[in-house]
Amino acid sequence: MLIKIKKSWELKESEVLSETTYANRRQILKALGLGGIAASTISSMGSRAFAAAEADPSASLYPVPRNESYVGGRPLTPEKIATTYNNFYEFGSHKSISEAAQALKIRPWTVKIDGEVEQEMEIGVDDLLAKMQLEERIYRHRCVEAWSMVVPWSGFALKDLVAFAKPTSKAKYLIMQTFEDKTVAPGQKQFWYPWPYTEGLTIEEATNDLAFMVTGLYGKPLPKQSGAPLRLAVPWKYGFKHIKSIVRFSFTEERPVSFWEKLNASEYGFWANVNPEVRHPRWSQATERDLRTEERIPTQMYNGYAEEVAHLYKELGKRERLFM
Ligand code: MTE
Repeated sequence: MLIKIKKSWELKESEVLSETTYANRRQILKALGLGGIAASTISSMGSRAFAAAEADPSASLYPVPRNESYVGGRPLTPEKIATTYNNFYEFGSHKSISEAAQALKIRPWTVKIDGEVEQEMEIGVDDLLAKMQLEERIYRHRCVEAWSMVVPWSGFALKDLVAFAKPTSKAKYLIMQTFEDKTVAPGQKQFWYPWPYTEGLTIEEATNDLAFMVTGLYGKPLPKQSGAPLRLAVPWKYGFKHIKSIVRFSFTEERPVSFWEKLNASEYGFWANVNPEVRHPRWSQATERDLRTEERIPTQMYNGYAEEVAHLYKELGKRERLFM
């Protein structure tokens, strides 16, 4: 994950969907109470993201009610920036992968739940969505590369998926894996990366209230470049933990080695908690570049979520803390 100087996401102001437009659109959709039909109406506004949403069978589920307990603390990042400035190495090792990611076929999409669970199973993503309580949460999103956004994710609490999976008492970790298909993801032909993209959390982290399975963004189904149909959001951790397009949840006794940790454990540790006091070996983590304003702002401990999660790390030794 190198910092690129090229600002490929920079847009003319007229192209940026403002926060006000987003808020108005939410109100219109809510007032109509017709998510699916309203989505097709609004696609005539010319938004390509909306056109993509139309093809998604879950489109009628959005927008979902907002959980007001989760607010970003600063204005939302315009949708156009959040959906065109992405990391998704399966589609290229640069930020402009949004076009290439459209090759990903997101239906049918089956998720496997296995390992230390009462009963292993496979479930289609739409069946899973039907079992879960969807809500919208505004989270800060801080990449290890020292840029950040504020985005309205839709989805459900990861702890509800853990409860649905019924892990055994042996389960200490939850491992998540991304799809693997070289025919749609050219990045996966790059043999020096340890595909499939893999991430892990402790069970305590996975069942923390903040851990969120994301299925939508800005009141619509999640765009492919953002990790459709299912990605993780753990806002107190660096962005690389936020694994995209998940096909497998495995419960294990052993701590997994995640994708970036396998490549370079001294730069991308398992914990990866946002910490302004611990430098990345090649740059400071004390500040971050807000993608909305381009200004540098101070980074907060645990990305400002210390109250919710600091207790999870009280027992960690000093050496492990260094990898935060
Ligand atoms: N998931 C997969 N499968 N592949 C990736 O390359 N990149 C990670 C994470 N999830 C990545 C991934 C990184 S480094 C970041 S910062 C976030 O996705 C970026 O999410 P965004 O594009 O929605 O901002």
